[in-house]
Amino acid sequence: MIVAIDGPAGSGKSTTARRVADRLGWLYLDTGAMYRAVGLAFRERGLPVTDQAAVDLVPALDVRLDPGPAGTRVALDGADVTDRIRTAEAAADASRVSALAPVRAAMVALQRRVASGYQAAHADGGVVVEGRDIGTVVFPDADVKFFLVADLDARARRRLADGPDAAPAALETVRADLAARDLRDESRAIAPLRAAADAVTLDTTALTIDQQVEHVLDAVRRARASSA
Ligand code: DC
Repeated sequence: MIVAIDGPAGSGKSTTARRVADRLGWLYLDTGAMYRAVGLAFRERGLPVTDQAAVDLVPALDVRLDPGPAGTRVALDGADVTDRIRTAEAAADASRVSALAPVRAAMVALQRRVASGYQAAHADGGVVVEGRDIGTVVFPDADVKFFLVADLDARARRRLADGPDAAPAALETVRADLAARDLRDESRAIAPLRAAADAVTLDTTALTIDQQVEHVLDAVRRARASSA
């Protein structure tokens, strides 16, 4: 079973997706971490954000995710970059490179490979995938699809409270960063951030994490019951 959780930054998707995967004993796949690793590779090499640079760079990159209870460890060409991809700069870089067609093609292929490899090895297992285009492009046939949203202020406050992206920035800066990133992610030509027609939109502004997790787990239970 594939559970797709999309939404803008700070909408609660990472925490929800990770906890749902933990509760079910399934794989958690953080696709944003992949785009962050690619963004870091562009920055380290001083490359322009162009299709040509992506065509030259991306096939040679080795991006690996190792999900664990404390979050996903990310390796780029064998080096652990987990902390380096969690800065505000890395988030903005990820958003820029993720608009490039060759980057998206490679990452979507990688995401599908990781999910099918896991499912092949875990007959009864599932994958909880979070991102921006999971329900629309990567897994349009996902069994369960959620699109999480929340007020910009609530998202900015969450980022400040627990967000490795922002601290110690001021609320105003975080809010502006999130708004700029949303706009870029929503307005790109390829696989823009948007809800799939068959996704359940969940406004998490006034929800606790436990409530968000329960919404998704309920949907998983229903999907399992109807496919049994
Ligand atoms: O989820 P995140 O904040 O780690 O994602 C960082 C950026 O990567 C996000 O601003 C847009 C891009 N991204 C994407 O284009 N598609 C995805 N499936 C996941 C992330």
